Amino acid sequence: MTSAAPNRTSGRGKFISFEGGEGSGKSTQIRKLAERLAAAKLRTIVTREPGGSPGAEIIRHLVLSGMGKLLGPDAETLLFAAARDDHVHTVIQPALSQGTWVLCDRFSDSTRAYQVRLGQVLPAVLNAMQRVTIGDLKPDLTIILDIPVEVGLQRAAARRGSDAPDRFEAEDVQFHQDLREAYRQIAAEDPQRCVLIDANADADMVAARVWTALRDHLFAIPSSASTA
Ligand code: TYD
Repeated sequence: MTSAAPNRTSGRGKFISFEGGEGSGKSTQIRKLAERLAAAKLRTIVTREPGGSPGAEIIRHLVLSGMGKLLGPDAETLLFAAARDDHVHTVIQPALSQGTWVLCDRFSDSTRAYQVRLGQVLPAVLNAMQRVTIGDLKPDLTIILDIPVEVGLQRAAARRGSDAPDRFEAEDVQFHQDLREAYRQIAAEDPQRCVLIDANADADMVAARVWTALRDHLFAIPSSASTA
């Protein structure tokens, strides 16, 4: 987690989540956006799911090791929900209420895409978990980075080097194709909150698209930021 620059917002901070398949470039884009917001003197934290708080990082380790999969789909989803509960209550909510902007690498759309659309968890089960973990909290803006599966998997493999793929990277190509489609549907169903961005381009070009999405969806950006 990183923080930047003094706070210039008044009231609640903005909550921006980033979503996408493997190798879609979320971490690069989050870093670039955090730098740009810091240049605009907006206090910003960068965080991630699963994880983002000490308790949730322990659960992250369990889930990505594949341990959660052994417990079955609902129990694995409960682990993601437990991690989210801790993260929301100890990191995200306190930051937002202090006026800090929160950039989160994955949030509840990941559960909807991976566990519900591609897994065996019923939407009603997810909705019930969400009532407990996040209540009314939802991102002000969700950036969904869209990239062809073969490009994303090549990037993820290059980043991983000789390390073994984690629980989800190890799924087959069809899984990743279905995942891309699931995210496209999520974007289409909630256009007020979600922006689907073509991420198969140079990182600076994608960053410019992300910035345009912010400008169009969130009005509170100071004009000095748009020249950064
Ligand atoms: P991570 O190494 O952070 O992957 P990425 O760089 O792709 O974000 O691993 C997180 C993995 O957990 C990723 O494959 C997506 C998955 N995941 C879920 O299945 N459900 C969830 O609710 C979340 C937050 C993540």
